[in-house]
Parts: sequence; C-alpha cells; structure tokens
Amino acid sequence: MKKLIVCIIYLFFTTLSFGQSLEAGKNGVVVSASKIASDIGIQIMREGGNSVDAAIAVSFALAVVWPEAGNLGGGGFMVIRFPDGSATTIDYREKASENAHEKMYLDRDGKPISGLSTEGPLSAAVPGTVAGMALAWEKYGLLPWNKLIEPAIELADKGFPVTYHLHTGLKNHYEEMAQFTATKDMFFPKGSVPEVGDILKFPDLAQTLGRIAQEGADDFYRGLTALKIVRSVNAAGGILTYDDLKNYRAIEQRPLRFQYRDHEIITMAPPSSGGVVLGQILKILENFPMSHYDYFSPDAIHKIVEAERFAYANRSKYLGDPYFVNNHTQYLLSDKLNDSLASEIKFNVAGNSLVTAPVFVPESEQTTHFSIIDKNGLAVSNTTTLNSSYGSCFVVEGTGILLNNEMDDFSIKPGQPNQFGLLGSEANSIQPNKKMLSSMTPAIVTQDNQIKYILGSPGGSTIITTVAQVIINLVDFGMNLRNAVHAPRFHHQWLPDNIYFEKFGIDKTLFEALEKMGYKLVIRSAIGDLNAIGIDHNLGIYIGVADNRRQSAVSCY
Ligand code: GLY
Repeated sequence: MKKLIVCIIYLFFTTLSFGQSLEAGKNGVVVSASKIASDIGIQIMREGGNSVDAAIAVSFALAVVWPEAGNLGGGGFMVIRFPDGSATTIDYREKASENAHEKMYLDRDGKPISGLSTEGPLSAAVPGTVAGMALAWEKYGLLPWNKLIEPAIELADKGFPVTYHLHTGLKNHYEEMAQFTATKDMFFPKGSVPEVGDILKFPDLAQTLGRIAQEGADDFYRGLTALKIVRSVNAAGGILTYDDLKNYRAIEQRPLRFQYRDHEIITMAPPSSGGVVLGQILKILENFPMSHYDYFSPDAIHKIVEAERFAYANRSKYLGDPYFVNNHTQYLLSDKLNDSLASEIKFNVAGNSLVTAPVFVPESEQTTHFSIIDKNGLAVSNTTTLNSSYGSCFVVEGTGILLNNEMDDFSIKPGQPNQFGLLGSEANSIQPNKKMLSSMTPAIVTQDNQIKYILGSPGGSTIITTVAQVIINLVDFGMNLRNAVHAPRFHHQWLPDNIYFEKFGIDKTLFEALEKMGYKLVIRSAIGDLNAIGIDHNLGIYIGVADNRRQSAVSCY
C-alpha cells in the first residue's frame, strides 16, 4: 500500500512539475523527438501492441512530423532487449549502390568536389528503414503491419501543425531544398517557408505509406515505389538501381555487450562505430576512480577526454562495414589494450593528437533517437537518420520520400574529414554494396540482469560522447536520470584536437584549469538530444526523460 501511494505521488508530481520532459508510467513509455510520435507509440501499446510495434509506428510517424531525420529514405539501428535478458539488434543501415566507387566524389586531381557527397541524389545510399521496420515486425511484432502505419498515413494526409523547430529548420535549409522541384512542392507548398501553426500536408507521402501498408516492404524495394525511386534518382543524376533496392536486406545481428563496472551495456556492433567507441571510452575509464572526482571537475574531464581521444583515433583507423573489413572489436575492447592506453594518460597534462587538425566544418547533426518500453519490459532503443538535416534534400518525384545523404559517412577520400570533421581510412572507403560507418549508439544498460536504462541520441560524431557521458553521470556520479540527461556536455574526437563545450556548460575557472593542462577549448551549440527511459524496479515504474535541448517529448500510460 505504501509503495502504491509513493508511486501515485511520484507519477503525479513528475507529470505536474516537468511536463513533457519527464513523465512516469507503469505500462509503457515512449520518448521521441516529437510529442505526436510519442503519443502514437503509446496508442499502439494501448491497442495491444508491444514495444516493437510501437517503435515501428513511431518510426513511420517521425517520417512525417520530424522530416529532418525521421525517414523512409534513410536507415538506422534498433537494439531490442527481451524480458528474459536476451537481446538482439536490427541493422538497417543504408548501403552504397552497386554502381558506387571509391573516386565518385573526387575531381580529376583527386580532390573532393564540394557538396557532391552531401547534397542531391548522388549523395544518397540505398535506404534501409522500410526493410528494417518490416524485419522487426516479422520477427517480433504483434499487431497487423498496416495498423502500425495508419497513424502516419493520417498525419501525412490530414496534415499536422508546423512547430517552431520545423519552421526554423525549413527556413535554414530553404536554399538547398528549394533547388529540387519535388522537395520544394512538398515542404514549401505556398512557395515560402510554412509559418508556425500552419498545417502541412504530404499527399504523395500519404500515398506511398498507403502502398507500404498494403503491400509491405515489397512496394518500396520491388514495387511501384522502387520504380519511382530509380526513375527519379537517375533522371536527376543519381546512380541507384532497381537491383540495389531489390537486393537490399535488413540484418538481424547479435548486439555488442560489454561490462562497465557493475553494469552491462547492450549496444550496436559495426557498421556502427557507436558500440566499439563507447566501449573503449568506458573500458579506459574503468582504470580511474571516476566516482572520486567531482562531476565536471578538471580531473574528470581530463580522463574522459583522453579516453575519447584514443577511442576516436582507433575508430578512424580500424572501423568499417564488418562484411568488408576486420574491425578488431575484441582487441579494441580488451582490458589488456585499454589498461595500457589508460596508463599513457599523463597526470593533469593534455594529450596530443600529433597531427595538424583539419578544419572542423560545423554541420547539423540531425539523427533522431527514440526509447520505448512496454508493460512486459520489452525494451527498444532505436536511432535513425538521413545523415544531415533533411538528408540529400532530394525528394523522389511523386513519393514524398526524402532521400538520405549517407554516402558522406564513408571516408570520401581517406585522410579527408567528412562533414562532422571525422577522419577515415581505407576501412571506411567507398565500395559497391558496402555500408558506411556510423556513430549511432542506441544502448540499453542493465545491472544484475535487470534493465535499468534505455538511451541514445542524435548528434553525428557527438552521439557516442553524449551517450558515454550520460552513462558516466549515472554510473560514476550517481545522478538521477533527469540530471544525468540535462547536465552540460563536452566532446572530443581525436581530431580536431579541441574539447567542444556547450555554450552554458563551462565557467571561467574550469576553462582556465583545462587550458593550463594544455587543452584547446571551443564553445559551441547544444550537444546531442538524448531520449532515455529509467526503470525503477522498487516502485515498479518507468521514468521517461526527454532531453530539453531540442523538442523531444515523453508519453506514457
Ligand atoms: N549519419 C550519422 C551517423 O550514422 O553516425
């Protein structure tokens, strides 16, 4: 009885005090980039769906209401943990066309041609999202497939109100987007940027979703939609073929699982670098008494940054599509290696990345992450993307499908930084049918074989450090989930050799202490947008926390 009262008070106050950014429920929680999408996920659960059903419905809904990153024309990764403690992942990362080749974005002198890998149909890889959702549903869904797409069809057909975030995003990307007729017609139907509160409808997308609801993924990869994609992309100078689509398969694969102190992390193996880099950062940090340092103290930041430096350097050299390269995952996560790397970290002295830092080109980091749990404890952690905001900015004629610009996640020219300033090597070079390396890090954290947290974030190269820091905040600094998510963040990725701090995340004393150690500090905008769920086994409730850095929202019941 006492437990029930505490629980009711908790639910009442958390909902009352923190609105959409923190809510708790006993039967299910969804935390996503959009309140509309989170509500759809909960509705699916109320109708008897499980977390996987909800994830599919949320994913399709985000393709409508969160078009900067929610998608049909992109890809991603889904981590699923079952109530019995077993886990799996769905890899629906995009892959290069069979026509792709290593020099496709270089001029005659071997220099990258500006914009070619980031804008327009040539920057698009073969999309994986529809195949990924279909595979997740075939293996683990409960409700009929078409039911999961209906809410998205309705949103696209009847329209939805333009938020401030969408208005600003469209305004900032008007130039790139309006150069493509179908994109302009879809997002700027009156010829100008839609205002906040305008109702935006996507009739072509509603039709496409309707076909996918009826015919399944076959429509997208073999049917009318496939034909439309090939025709439209090729007419505009792209290289995707019908066989690219027909041969695309989402893959179910084992998750990467490793220990961090007394917690277990369940996350993505390559072709995402997320899991391996996260693992290496944490394994190096296991060598230090992090909980003895003050949170955001120079000591703590020094250790975390140096661990990040090693992990991103190794990412750059070794990681790529596991069907093409040996990622040396076991070695990179071995205690032997990471203990020895930790021993190289000098007391209070910044490391040195030893190479002239390439120019860092600040770009949008528009991936999107949602976390879901249902009444049976089935957990889904899903990150999906078009790569940049609005991907290639190219909408396939007559479909409402915005294509990704994921080809830029390959190392276009080994040694040349991509839009996130990430350097790559041969391991991540372009080859036909190869998947480009990702930083997406959907994760689930357990302790004593009980699920504790579900989390993940957008943010390009900053995804991994965002997830790492929230885990460190929880495990080492003993923060509650809300504080762990909302705490200020920083980022280091080996090269450029800078620590990036959020604008309001650092004071003068800390700045000077780190400079004294030899660090170069750069102030930047918000890092990541981490959507998380915590499970309180004592109270028997789920607590959803939406990051307050963007517009994310929790729904629960
Ligand atoms: N496109 C961002 C990522 O996959 O990491």
